[in-house]
Amino acid sequence: KGSVEVDLSAIPLGESATIKWRGKPVFIRHRTDEEIAKAAADDNIELRHPEADIDRVQKPEWLVVLGVCTHLGCVPIANAGDYHGWFCPCHGSHYDVSGRIRKGPAPLNLDVPTYRFEEEDTKLIL
Ligand code: FES
Repeated sequence: KGSVEVDLSAIPLGESATIKWRGKPVFIRHRTDEEIAKAAADDNIELRHPEADIDRVQKPEWLVVLGVCTHLGCVPIANAGDYHGWFCPCHGSHYDVSGRIRKGPAPLNLDVPTYRFEEEDTKLIL
């Protein structure tokens, strides 16, 4: 059916993994408490594409987003850029730790795919 299982125990706290799903990269980021707090704090500032962090996650410690820049579709680099989320090297878009666009030409936040947790949250199914 084209679904993918991801073993979450393989992604250490503070790191982001990239998996392939339906021909596209998906980023799975195991967020630290600090990153979760930062993302929530930034809900209240002026955002280009306003979305609360909590509405972009099912569990705050796991951010799951498509790894496709909303400008022209390059694959952003993790743990880079001015907001320490992702940086797209093609034309310089900066995303935060919620995958929200913060600076550069991209118009929208990184998309959130449909997914679910299984086996006491040790596994993610896309
Ligand atoms: Fe990412 Fe242009 S494709 S900034």
